[in-house]
Amino acid sequence: MFSAFLNDTHPSLDAAKGHVKIVGVEAGGEHGPWLPDGTETDKHAATLTNGVVGVLHGSRTYLLQTPDGQIKETHSISAGLDYPGVGPQHAQLKSIGRVEYKYATDSQALEAQRFCSRAEGILPALEPSHALHQVMEIAKTMRKDQIVLVNLCGRGDKDMLHVAKYRGVTIDTDVILTKDEGYKAMDGSKAKGSSGVSLVYLAAAFACGALVAMKLR
Ligand SMILES: Cc1ncc(COP(=O)(O)O)c(C=O)c1O
Repeated sequence: MFSAFLNDTHPSLDAAKGHVKIVGVEAGGEHGPWLPDGTETDKHAATLTNGVVGVLHGSRTYLLQTPDGQIKETHSISAGLDYPGVGPQHAQLKSIGRVEYKYATDSQALEAQRFCSRAEGILPALEPSHALHQVMEIAKTMRKDQIVLVNLCGRGDKDMLHVAKYRGVTIDTDVILTKDEGYKAMDGSKAKGSSGVSLVYLAAAFACGALVAMKLR
């Protein structure tokens, strides 16, 4: 995603002259690398935001590690981002300042996932939902004629068990959700009538939520 735009820079940083700003978004976990009071914590995986240079798996890159080089446990709601290191290419892009790295927390990613599902009928994976949160924040600062691209890797249906857990829905293994539980997982509202539905329907319910909401408006 980034590689096609790496050379699209202009000293004026002017979009009209072809400057493309690039932003990467990391997993801020429960509250970001810092608690609201500024205290540092380990409940995140924001390697580029808070890591230090070290070597893991033969690569020199930014790592979440202790001062004596022990790799730290990380945390993220998304399995794909729950990792203490980062590819060396990102490390280089950060060090030369071509890409700005930000983070989004677990709950910001969850909300962005829900919003995108409803507004667009697209169920994004939790990993790019972190980026979606920042996209919505950044878009507020942009002009209407500016363009923003976001890479939606993967699919959110793989994350539905996890999302249900975070939203407080109890799931058995086979027939998993009632319709009421599915609606509760989305926004706490009650379904009309209830029948047993499988987990697959939770995914469908997220995607269809947007269509339903639009029709009712
Ligand atoms: C949907 C999704 N996005 C992103 C990632 C992370 O990919 P990468 O290691 O290339 O950054 C994963 C990893 O499992 C993933 O499942």
